[in-house]
Amino acid sequence: MRVLLIGSGGREHALAWKIAASPLLTKLYAAPGNPGIGGEAELVTLDIADHAAVARFCTEKKIDLVVVGPEGPLVAGIADDLRAENIRVFGPSRAAARLEGSKGFTKDLCAKYAIPTAAYGRFGDLASARAYVERMGAPIVIKADGLAAGKGVTVAINLAEALAALDACFDGSFGQAGAEVVVEEFLTGEEASFFCLCDGVTALPFGTAQDHKRLSDGDVGPNTGGMGAYSPAPVMTPEMIDRTMREIVEPTMRGMAELGAPFSGVLFAGLMISDNGPKLIEYNTRFGDPECQVLMMRLKDDLLVLLNAAADGQLAHTSVRWRNEAALTVVMAAKGYPGTPEKGSVIRGVEQAAGDGVEIFHAGTAIDSGALVANGGRVLGVTATGGTVGEAQRQAYAALDRIDWPQGFCRRDIGWQAVAREQAR
Ligand code: AMP
Ligand code: GLY
Repeated sequence: MRVLLIGSGGREHALAWKIAASPLLTKLYAAPGNPGIGGEAELVTLDIADHAAVARFCTEKKIDLVVVGPEGPLVAGIADDLRAENIRVFGPSRAAARLEGSKGFTKDLCAKYAIPTAAYGRFGDLASARAYVERMGAPIVIKADGLAAGKGVTVAINLAEALAALDACFDGSFGQAGAEVVVEEFLTGEEASFFCLCDGVTALPFGTAQDHKRLSDGDVGPNTGGMGAYSPAPVMTPEMIDRTMREIVEPTMRGMAELGAPFSGVLFAGLMISDNGPKLIEYNTRFGDPECQVLMMRLKDDLLVLLNAAADGQLAHTSVRWRNEAALTVVMAAKGYPGTPEKGSVIRGVEQAAGDGVEIFHAGTAIDSGALVANGGRVLGVTATGGTVGEAQRQAYAALDRIDWPQGFCRRDIGWQAVAREQAR
């Protein structure tokens, strides 16, 4: 098979690594990719926003499957435009990607199908949003409706913070994404990420993970795209997975089909697990990053077989197997992240740090005069497996400490809840 992978992050490096291991693969291209992905694939310069150009490339290179990593191109309709040219795609249509592209759309779907989620209101103007927030009181959660690169959510602990977040949305801080606002009840519990591969009809559970979104040790500081993750998530017991499938994922699949927008691709449910069971915080319509890195390390089966089954509507006849080990990723970021990261510093020792059960996935890296340099906020995902989360954590930090990059930083406590649970046993 000849495959084109779209994207350039740690998620895509992990996907490229796993796709490259498939006996079905004859040629892998990545656009735009990064230097790590370049070890697994031929990198191509393509304007991803120009869907006609991507389609021409696929036809010319006889691509059998396009795998879309990030949400941006999906929400922009790349899957529709490629399918219109008879090109097979793993990823949802524009209409199905609204599950990530519009928080209000997802909340209305939840309301219609009685899917457990936070109580909410949708607002197109400041005055009515303010009135709702004042009536509900704090803590309360304010969200820009559209894609805001993870920055559109404010968990406000007091009224002043909530009102300031509303002002920011309606002031245009998030552009069009903030023209509409969702205000939500504050949920408590333990967060988990749950993934399904979907083919429009069937959703196949595809692993669990927990992500550390806050910048600093102890889960404090500003929100980021994710500073580390581990899999599996201890709160996602087989019983909790069953409930999530029955109460959240299956009604979503039915609802999307009834709306004429059957969902195919990765459905990533961000969940809050409370004493009353799972509640949906939000959907993403692609793999999480860094969650994808830990999932790929644990996946026993051939990823390409599974992506094909999803693209062809064959998931009802497919199963998936995982290694028994845990996996854990520690993100190394460039100083300045999540604000403006410093670019250009030289990173040494990456190849020597990888080894048995350890992969170093690249995100924001580049090659400059033959040297590997930082070229983004999140730069490397140091990923290890182990018999326990604690063991995977030790292996990941041992590898990370072999990397020579003074301008980088990381959290030192990725996986702490799971490790504490293991120690308490
Ligand atoms: P999101 O971008 O929707 O995943 O939100 C980012 C983070 O905000 C989530 O991972 C949660 O930690 C938090 N969050 C979002 N919605 C809620 C909610 N309704 N209640 C409590 N925390 C929330
Ligand atoms: N790590 C969270 C995300 O990919 O959305």
